[in-house]
Amino acid sequence: MEVLSVSHAFLMTEIMCFSILVVSCNHISLKGNSQSNFLFGTASSSYQFEGAFLNDGKSLNNWDVFSHKPGNILDGTNGDIAVDQYHLYQEDLDLMDYIGVNSYRFSISWARILPKGRFGKVNRAGIDHYNKLIDALLLRGIQPFVTLTHYDIPQELEDRYGAWLSPLLQEDFRYYADICFKFFGDRVKYWSTFNEPNVLAIRGYRSGIYPPSHCSLPFGNCISGDSEREPFIAAHNIILSHAAAVNVYRTKYQKKQEGSIGIVMNAVWYEPISSSLEDKLAAERAQSFYINWFLDPIVHGRYPAEMHELLGDDLPEFSMFDMEMLKNGLDFIGINHYTSFYSKDCMISPCEPGPGVSRTEGYALRTAQKDGIYIGEPTAVDWLYVHPQGMEKMVTYIKERYNNTPMFITENGYAEEANSNTTNEEQFNDVKRVEYMRSYLQALADTMRTKGADVRGYFVWSLLDNFEWTSGYTVQFGLHHVDNVTLKRTPRLSADWYRQFIVNNTLQILSAQE
Ligand code: GAL
Repeated sequence: MEVLSVSHAFLMTEIMCFSILVVSCNHISLKGNSQSNFLFGTASSSYQFEGAFLNDGKSLNNWDVFSHKPGNILDGTNGDIAVDQYHLYQEDLDLMDYIGVNSYRFSISWARILPKGRFGKVNRAGIDHYNKLIDALLLRGIQPFVTLTHYDIPQELEDRYGAWLSPLLQEDFRYYADICFKFFGDRVKYWSTFNEPNVLAIRGYRSGIYPPSHCSLPFGNCISGDSEREPFIAAHNIILSHAAAVNVYRTKYQKKQEGSIGIVMNAVWYEPISSSLEDKLAAERAQSFYINWFLDPIVHGRYPAEMHELLGDDLPEFSMFDMEMLKNGLDFIGINHYTSFYSKDCMISPCEPGPGVSRTEGYALRTAQKDGIYIGEPTAVDWLYVHPQGMEKMVTYIKERYNNTPMFITENGYAEEANSNTTNEEQFNDVKRVEYMRSYLQALADTMRTKGADVRGYFVWSLLDNFEWTSGYTVQFGLHHVDNVTLKRTPRLSADWYRQFIVNNTLQILSAQE
């Protein structure tokens, strides 16, 4: 911690006192509905953290290929090395240990386990790597919370099938999931099939800014694609792939391994821009075309009514068999919640072109401003505004729509710009991140207490600065700063704040049990 100046230390004391005060006075207690095993963790993903991109038998995946194409990543970088967690995981476990988390959310690199999908052999070195990581976590009392795919798939499958456009990929995913349950399921008790399939479908097949770069005008300028149809085809195959993996887990493994399985959604809160009925319905449609799009089929066996009405034949259909297999197709819902937007109706009164206004997005304009005022303080990324009220509304919405299915906040975090001109003071005294986490955790605790929401864990994005997809390394989300050249990890104020927060909560939980 030699980089911390005197004023950093002073500021930290101030903020710690503040947080302790808040914890004891306002009772930020995240113990959930009587369970004392609330998970506190940090989240990550294989492509953003691991590096080691062709080491030990791993093949190319879609993000390796995409990020190597000039122009795709803002700063021209890629995840070849990322933060090299593949080699440095013991060091990162020390950081987690210091913070005191009891869970770590990471994803498995599909191309490390099955370099050629189901058309090749299992890569033993890949299995060994995750075995070592899982064992090392458990040795420290940290529960692995594992995602099967966080946007990345072996390039072989993208080339063969055009990725998620083909129903054949369902069989590949089922096969891959089976292997993961078989090799790791004796120790992994929390599985999620997909990370943010809604973002994947939208960015991969509507705007085309993520692989496989499919889109059509006016949504984007790609070589191929159909922005009005392909997102729904990809989503349909993802939903059925999820169901196939859950089915394997439930029939072959769950009873013996005693774990649970869910899916992680990106969850934006859409606040109606006015109190008019039209804008309220627009906000509802925005949710249906974003989260309910996936969760309704998985929980209730059918797409939301609004999607049927607006999309007609552009929405694929589930067979009777699919519907049966889908119902109650998860044990928990993972919620990645960072931000909120206003939603304005464009169905009754047409809107100017803008995000959300098309038929295939539900005719609901998405905007961060109302009367020139932002919904919350802007941050270093154009999609993240600080609006902690959204946490309460989002969790309550999901609780009510999905019968209080157990929930985990699988990601929540704050972005700052990577800027070589910032002073150490600015770089490490991340007071805004601390305030963001404090206010969102407060909102979460309130929702659990006042609404009885069954939330069972909270994961910060992220332990370390890392490769932020198309933004490369220009944006930082870490509780620890990572030097891009030496890869040295240095704690920020927020790491210490989170540590103190966990200590206080653990104490509360213990005292509540006495
Ligand atoms: C999420 C995504 C993460 C991370 C985070 C911050 O949507 O799952 O991989 O990039 O956003 O932007």
